[in-house]
Amino acid sequence: MPLPTNPLQMVHLGPRKKRPRQMGASMVCPPHDIKFQDLALYILEKKMGTTRRAFLMELARRKGFRVEDELSDSITHIVAENNSGSEVLEWLQGQNLKASSQLELLDVSWLIESMAAGRPVETTGKHQLVKRDYSASPNPELQKTPPLVIKKISQYACQRRTTLNNCNQIFTDAFEVLAENYEFRENEVFCLAFMRAASVLKSLPFTIISMKDTEGIPCLEDKVKCVIEEIIEDGESSEVKAVLNDERYQSFKLFTSVFGVGLKTSEKWFRMGYRTLNKIKLDKTLKFTPMQKAGFLYYEDLVSCVTRAEAEAVCMLVKEAVWAFLPEAFVTMTGGFRRGKKIGHDVDFLITSPGSTDEDEEQLLPKVINLWERKRVDSGKCSQQEGKTWKAIRVDLVMCPYERRAFALLGWTGSRQFERDLRRYATHERKMILDNHALYDKTKKIFLKAESEEEIFAHLGLDYIEPWERNA
Ligand code: UTP
Ligand code: MG
Repeated sequence: MPLPTNPLQMVHLGPRKKRPRQMGASMVCPPHDIKFQDLALYILEKKMGTTRRAFLMELARRKGFRVEDELSDSITHIVAENNSGSEVLEWLQGQNLKASSQLELLDVSWLIESMAAGRPVETTGKHQLVKRDYSASPNPELQKTPPLVIKKISQYACQRRTTLNNCNQIFTDAFEVLAENYEFRENEVFCLAFMRAASVLKSLPFTIISMKDTEGIPCLEDKVKCVIEEIIEDGESSEVKAVLNDERYQSFKLFTSVFGVGLKTSEKWFRMGYRTLNKIKLDKTLKFTPMQKAGFLYYEDLVSCVTRAEAEAVCMLVKEAVWAFLPEAFVTMTGGFRRGKKIGHDVDFLITSPGSTDEDEEQLLPKVINLWERKRVDSGKCSQQEGKTWKAIRVDLVMCPYERRAFALLGWTGSRQFERDLRRYATHERKMILDNHALYDKTKKIFLKAESEEEIFAHLGLDYIEPWERNA
């Protein structure tokens, strides 16, 4: 049944003028039958007021909902009005309540819709003041634990859990454009400021709706806060708009979209007056690297994102080729796909084999490439661009010694910001040096061994962060 556009009309929510009796918090209500035993509601008075709260409580009870007067551990749904997620969380923190697996923090719209429907409607993102969408997490423990208790947010991404469920995309998209523009202009300080800000907002379990919500959040410099404020007020940032229309930004964005083209080459082409790829391709005086040649040749394929299905197909090919030379090898998909991303710009793999020699390790990748090269020539795919039935996909292969696999796996899983902060944390908080190969303790002057990522986190004194929580 479609809901009426204004559910208030259907359940007559507004206090009527001719009410036979005044309803107040102290009123003794007649008992109502509870139809929905699994739910226990608590309606938050803050910003709603006593009268409206009492009114909604009475109405919900009449509709068969269990509404409690007091907050307790048995409450399953907290309903609030005119409160942001962070405000409800802040209030809840002062309530000495056990974090329950059931607890939902909902906007009053959920209660109104539920009363209109005559049953509790499904809670969705539009009702949830704090998202509890851990459904993507394969860890059942995580699905049970809502992120109710907001601890002090760390300045390090490796001390935050960042899933792909980004509640602040409107801000983070803007920051990423600005960071990229600063990168193109080689302003590292501002670039990093916006990248860190994007990273911290991605970890928040609530959407920022007012400047008050930004209080206590680290990594938000004044420059960043100005952008947030403008987006809250106008829905967009004038600075971002200007960047998106900027000729240098647009050209660099286009040039760096070619595989093998970085900032230096972009700068050169931009200074030469180039603004399109077609003109560059036709300039016979320009010398291209083998990567750039491939970048131009397979441009359309490479700019289109790699899907998970394509990544899985590539994984089969990589395994088949690797196992032809090292049958014992472990082949693991790393990078964004290991973090649960649905699309990527490439597919990253880590290859390692117990008992492999230095020589095996050195020779594996050239052997694999050689095998694929021969296959490509045999099938005549190098020249067949017309009516082609294949797609060029960028694949990053990393081979590492078996004893270093945990460091390599951690290092190649990303995200880049997560890795950056892991290293920064190791250096500044632990006097250790971490890279994709090893962890060195400068105080003890020893290399710390690890068989798993969990052990590396433990060496660093960090809680373990699962790959899908590293989308910083
Ligand atoms: P990617 O650039 O492939 O990023 O590097 P991604 O996270 O998979 O995202 P996509 O591909 O754009 O979807 C994967 C990880 O490998 C490490 C970084 O930690 C990065 O997060 N890496 C990459 C390095 O350590 N060094 C490099 O030179 C490149
Ligand atoms: Mg990748």
